[in-house]
Amino acid sequence: MFTYKSIRYCKILLFYLTLSLIGNLLFANPPKQNDLPVRIILNLTENPSESQAVTWRTSSDVFKPLAQIAPANEYTDLNKEARTFNATREMVNLDNENNVYYHSVIFDSLRPNTLYAYRVGDEKYWSEWNQFKTASENPEPFKFIYFGDPQNDIKSMCSRIFRAAFKKAPDANFWYFTGDIVNHGNNDEEWDELFYALGWIPGMTPMILIPGNHGYPAKLVDGKKTQKITYLWRPQFTLPEDGPGGLEETAYFIDYQGVRLVMLNGNEKLEEQAKWLDTLLNRNPQRWTIIAIHQPFYSTGKDRDNPYLRELFIPILDKYSVDLVLQGHDHSYGRTYKLKNGIKVADNENGTVYVVSVSGTKVYSINQRYEDLMAKIGTGRQLFQVISVDKNLLQYESFNAMGELYDSFELRK
Ligand SMILES: [Fe+2]
Ligand SMILES: [Fe+2]
Repeated sequence: MFTYKSIRYCKILLFYLTLSLIGNLLFANPPKQNDLPVRIILNLTENPSESQAVTWRTSSDVFKPLAQIAPANEYTDLNKEARTFNATREMVNLDNENNVYYHSVIFDSLRPNTLYAYRVGDEKYWSEWNQFKTASENPEPFKFIYFGDPQNDIKSMCSRIFRAAFKKAPDANFWYFTGDIVNHGNNDEEWDELFYALGWIPGMTPMILIPGNHGYPAKLVDGKKTQKITYLWRPQFTLPEDGPGGLEETAYFIDYQGVRLVMLNGNEKLEEQAKWLDTLLNRNPQRWTIIAIHQPFYSTGKDRDNPYLRELFIPILDKYSVDLVLQGHDHSYGRTYKLKNGIKVADNENGTVYVVSVSGTKVYSINQRYEDLMAKIGTGRQLFQVISVDKNLLQYESFNAMGELYDSFELRK
């Protein structure tokens, strides 16, 4: 039986419910897409058997960015076992005046040679669980994929080269980019194309990247042209800081399962890097040494030459018999014979193989100057390279966008 009092009570309740509904509609949280992690990318750390870096971005300023990690298993209760890490947060003001937020975590105290599952986000909105495997502490066999400059037509034309590469070697331990990743380093839309083209691969396969000259956009400061690393480089990657001072995340090294990988920044502080490289290779316990630099020592692109780079670095590369140098910049393909002091040596002698490759669409015609040093030279096609290391054998294969073999060689020691 409804009394007058209970009807009045119901009316008041209804009034407050309606008010709360209107309030929720008017002052609801912003659309959750702005809080969702995008552009998730793994980077190798200087200690890849124990730690792993991940970076992601959100459009809104999430309250408490977090990442969770657990040893992968076949069940669905990953979050029960997971360790939670607080992320480092960085606001970046894009050129079009929008703010975006980059978040990064270095997962540490990981077990070597172990498959992990992780996710990033905050307490409300998480990414999917992704998986990666830590490196072994020992010189175990592994493979990686190396790309020269993507740079142009990234969404339209580089997507298929990345996907062909993934199909060819889905088990590659990491991917390796030798600069000019986009054409205008400060253009966020071009980076957006890159992350579109790569899809979910960078969330699963760690990336090593170095900047090329297009990562150093020119600016006029007091009427003087100056070039600085793009403001987007350091926020959007979490790369090692174990190189020369002032070149953090752009010149660094990683020891990976028996290989010393040295990443040089060909755009600045070259003399400091030469000194650093000499010391680094002087105490190198790894069997193999691979160096990456954007600008080639023996140019494959017409009318190009870098004599100062050769003068600075070739004596060091020769002194320590660096095995392989990976380069970009010349928008063509060239692979030298084994060289020492700029001269071809026999296969069983100490020497270095220099490769230039390109994964994007920009094409330069061939340089005649160093043709005699080249075991293979060509231009006009997009390529990717799969490089495997197993004890005393290094196998190198270059493929076109159709997945067909374009070039190959082996090194033994
Ligand atoms: Fe370049
Ligand atoms: Fe380039």
